[in-house]
Amino acid sequence: METTKKLEHVAIIMDGNGRWAKSRGLPRVMGHHAGVKAVERTVRAAKELGIPYLSLYAFSTENWKRPRGEVLGLMGLFRYYLRSKLEELCKEEVRLRFAGELTALPEDIVAILDETAEKTKEFRGTQLITCVNYGGRREILDAVNKMLTAGETGPVTEETLQKYLYLPDVPDPDLIIRTSGELRLSNFWLWQSAYSEYYFTDKYWPDFDKQDLLDAVGDYYERERRYGKA
Ligand code: FPP
Repeated sequence: METTKKLEHVAIIMDGNGRWAKSRGLPRVMGHHAGVKAVERTVRAAKELGIPYLSLYAFSTENWKRPRGEVLGLMGLFRYYLRSKLEELCKEEVRLRFAGELTALPEDIVAILDETAEKTKEFRGTQLITCVNYGGRREILDAVNKMLTAGETGPVTEETLQKYLYLPDVPDPDLIIRTSGELRLSNFWLWQSAYSEYYFTDKYWPDFDKQDLLDAVGDYYERERRYGKA
């Protein structure tokens, strides 16, 4: 049986900020600033297209290895974005949620993430999930450890493990987009991506716009989705 599943969750690996900046002779952090503008455009576009869930890979568990100045710059951008845009996101009825090992983040950022998630939790528009200090392997290990702490006994099923993921109620991504020409998953949504479709574009993330999202979504609907069936 062939199925075309409605697009519920679009996930994006936002890559190429550094190269975008370098190609303009700018410091890397300027690429991240331009990346925030692309985030704003994409959230608006996802809302206009009626996509229920949009997730963005903003900071991976591996990103701590970047130069200290860049890590601090990225943390500063999270603060700035969430503080300055919260009101607007509330007006737009966007629900914000976060996935990752959040407790390892600076304390004030954890507080901002908590406050943002709490203030927007009743909104039923698009959900924007930002993955911060996120790693797919870490998420699975965290889930296993939480299961053990909770005293779950085997056999462990997919449904049991699912309950212990960071955001168990969020549907698996139907479509994963990666910008800047790299063809890797880079530890993003490892468990959840079992049946995801992929879309790659050479564009650097700061150049990504509504038309690019439309192209990716159009491509998704053109594909046959067989879920491993004949
Ligand atoms: C990848 O480009 C981008 C990141 C690791 C950070 C993404 C962060 C943002 C767009 C800003 C903050 C986001 C929110 C939600 C407020 P890269 O630096 O790896 O680029 P390169 O591969 O060209 O070096």
